[in-house]
Amino acid sequence: MNAAELVRQHLIDPEICIRCNTCEETCPVHAIQHDARNYVVRFDTCENCRACIPPCPTGAIENYRRVARSNPYAIEDQFSWDELPAEAEPSPGETAELPADVVRITEIATAGQGGAALPPWSAAHPYEGLHTIARPAIATVTGNYRLTEDRASSDVHHIVLDFGRTAFPVLEGQSLGVIAPGLDAAGKAHHVRLYSIASPRNGERPGYNNLALTVKRVAADRAGRPVHGVCSNYLCDLKRGDQVKVVGPYGTSFLMPNHPGSSLMMICTGTGSAPMRAMTERRRRRAALGEGGRLMLFFGARAPAELPYFGPLMKLPKDFIDINLAFSRASDRPKRYVQDLIRDRGEDVANMLRDPESYIYVCGLKGMETGVNEAFAAVCGAHGMTWDAVLDGLKREARFHVETY
Ligand code: A2P
Repeated sequence: MNAAELVRQHLIDPEICIRCNTCEETCPVHAIQHDARNYVVRFDTCENCRACIPPCPTGAIENYRRVARSNPYAIEDQFSWDELPAEAEPSPGETAELPADVVRITEIATAGQGGAALPPWSAAHPYEGLHTIARPAIATVTGNYRLTEDRASSDVHHIVLDFGRTAFPVLEGQSLGVIAPGLDAAGKAHHVRLYSIASPRNGERPGYNNLALTVKRVAADRAGRPVHGVCSNYLCDLKRGDQVKVVGPYGTSFLMPNHPGSSLMMICTGTGSAPMRAMTERRRRRAALGEGGRLMLFFGARAPAELPYFGPLMKLPKDFIDINLAFSRASDRPKRYVQDLIRDRGEDVANMLRDPESYIYVCGLKGMETGVNEAFAAVCGAHGMTWDAVLDGLKREARFHVETY
């Protein structure tokens, strides 16, 4: 083989990857895809731009193997892996050196990249990946409560995990991973499942080393076909005193600003309310210190009985948080989505978009992204702004954060 035909193939380590989807979302050329088992990189599409490297919370993304350009690992190979293949020894006559063009392309691309999405300038510094799949933290369940009413069609739980004397420092907006016990159909350990943390940084109970998760029991897939969500069912069935393997925390950009006077616009559906609860509660605890700016919430659920934290939410003072609830299947009112309410509140939304101290968070169903963007575009159009230009500015100033699934 001629040395010039050797290239570095970008691969993802299936042993470390927590399947958080960040790389797939980040890749500008859609070279990364996944199945139920692995995330893989298409050799013929990947341009080695490295945009996916900084956002990966585990480092699973940063793996390469030297391969012949004419014979890279196919995505079918990668889908079947439980671990990365060993690096092949160079054959006689081959060189382990990378061809100059491959190195150069990588360096140029890295220099031109903006790197990972930034948090608000006044966000606190997050810890990330303190606990790994090989060395998870062990948390004890101290509470598990159903949040949705008995008559509700969805079963959403508020699960409190206590870390005892194990460090698990979190910030509002971060996630953690749970390793469900047992083995999958292939006899392998279950993949990590990610959940947003629903508590503020100083604990579900202030001063305690605990936090809560908002978990919806998965009993059907998006198309309504029955499926048994391995980790969500495991979590929803936990009893007080049970122990849970936890990895993380994860997330370095979907974080709240801390400077006095900064405002939050929070847009969520279903369990996407978890980080909004964490941020709202942080602001509530800090209100007396004068940290608060304005809080505006758009929250979508099928009906009041299906809305996690409906009761506590309705008790919050109106001058503390401006709550807008969209119900899509309530029998006594027309179907509404969060994007409808953003339009209804156009004047106030436009004012927040113009306010350099406001930060916007979107969390929940993937499908809401398009609708929310269209609603912002309509509001901007009606108030003398252009959404594309506003969005550019928001992103540049780390004031627009989206986490959908
Ligand atoms: P729908 O009644 O159409 O499913 P879920 O209960 O499944 O977690 O969903 C939470 C809320 O999000 C529901 O009211 C659901 O409405 C709504 N929803 C579904 N699709 C979208 C979308 N594309 N944009 C905004 N909200 C949506």
